[in-house]
Amino acid sequence: MVHITRKPVVAVLKETAQGERRVALVPADIGKLSQYDIVVEAGAGLNAGFIDDDYTTAGGRISTRAEAIAGADLVLSVRAPDFAGFVPGKVLISLGGRDTAVTEAAAKAQILHLGMERLPRITRAQSMDVLSSQASIAGYAAVLEGARYLDTLLPMMTTAAGIVRPAKMIALGAGVAGLQALATARRLGAVTYGFDVREAAREQVESLGAEFVFPDVPDAKAEGTGGYAAAQSDDQQARLRRALTASLSRTNLIITSAQIPGRAAPILIDDETIAAMTPGTVIVDMAAETGGNVTITQPDEVVRHGRVTVLGPTNLPSAAPTDSSRLYSGNMRTLLTHLCKDGALNLTAGDEILDALAGGQAMPARAAA
Ligand code: NAI
Repeated sequence: MVHITRKPVVAVLKETAQGERRVALVPADIGKLSQYDIVVEAGAGLNAGFIDDDYTTAGGRISTRAEAIAGADLVLSVRAPDFAGFVPGKVLISLGGRDTAVTEAAAKAQILHLGMERLPRITRAQSMDVLSSQASIAGYAAVLEGARYLDTLLPMMTTAAGIVRPAKMIALGAGVAGLQALATARRLGAVTYGFDVREAAREQVESLGAEFVFPDVPDAKAEGTGGYAAAQSDDQQARLRRALTASLSRTNLIITSAQIPGRAAPILIDDETIAAMTPGTVIVDMAAETGGNVTITQPDEVVRHGRVTVLGPTNLPSAAPTDSSRLYSGNMRTLLTHLCKDGALNLTAGDEILDALAGGQAMPARAAA
């Protein structure tokens, strides 16, 4: 267990992953975390629009990476960093909680990794939910990205030269990202449709002015636990794909975000469906990192199949790094506040949120300082 009664030190690292522009803590949150000393690696916020002076003005200290890690009780980053410079017993809070390579590296380096994907979906933890905050931004960014690749417009336009019909957009997977994509596409003037295997999604899709599409496939619903979907059999998935083909063949922009936690993403669009699509259709496959919802998706590539374009962006939140960092940082602020009560940092087994984030790792033994 870690129980520290002096002012605990939090280090904020500069991200090293290619294309990662977010930062885990923004200057505005430093003043709200006065129970901590906050040390920020030089340049950590630059790509998100926050300069070192913003951090010092807010009460943080700027330091080298090595010094920040060495002196920290808690290390924050968005992506899990490599563990060079981490001595055994350090505590890291970052994404990577569903990535076995990260879990194994953390175990080898004897780091307690609090993986944010493992946060329990309970009301108390909602304001710490990084997956939700980042998925909202990703859903918005996916529509803008898709619109850039369409040869047509999203809104209807009536001009002296003629009428432009509104585009049809469908979200396959109507969780946090899919719903935000529906809201964004509708604001841009598209006619919107949504599909999900969870019945609960119907009302949410309809509340955004979209039509809920549910093909006539027996046993196609797959309600899981904790707000998530359950996995379907290969046969169920195949029947759903065939049943969805007709709707997809009449759509211009398709945003897929279907995920089953801890598993490869289900395939919703195969070559046969693509062959039936309207020329010019653009698909943004938000599940590219976990294998994709489309057979031909390549992570971070643009794949063209005939006149259908498939995008597989894996870091859409980085398209709007200032706001995605603000939301990520807000999640971190709530978590840090939860971990340090009455001036003492307390990482002790038995706390529902902490236990879930640790995912079965033992709390490091460390003397009170
Ligand atoms: P996710 O990222 O795991 O999955 C995205 C969507 O894909 C989900 O809506 C899922 O039902 C859908 N999906 C899975 N397999 C599919 C298939 N074969 N075909 C079509 N769709 C498929 O989930 P996300 O977006 O993180 O959360 C899902 C829901 O959980 C939210 O809509 C919300 O209702 C709930 N939630 C609850 C929270 C809480 O209580 N603290 C926090 C966040 C979300």
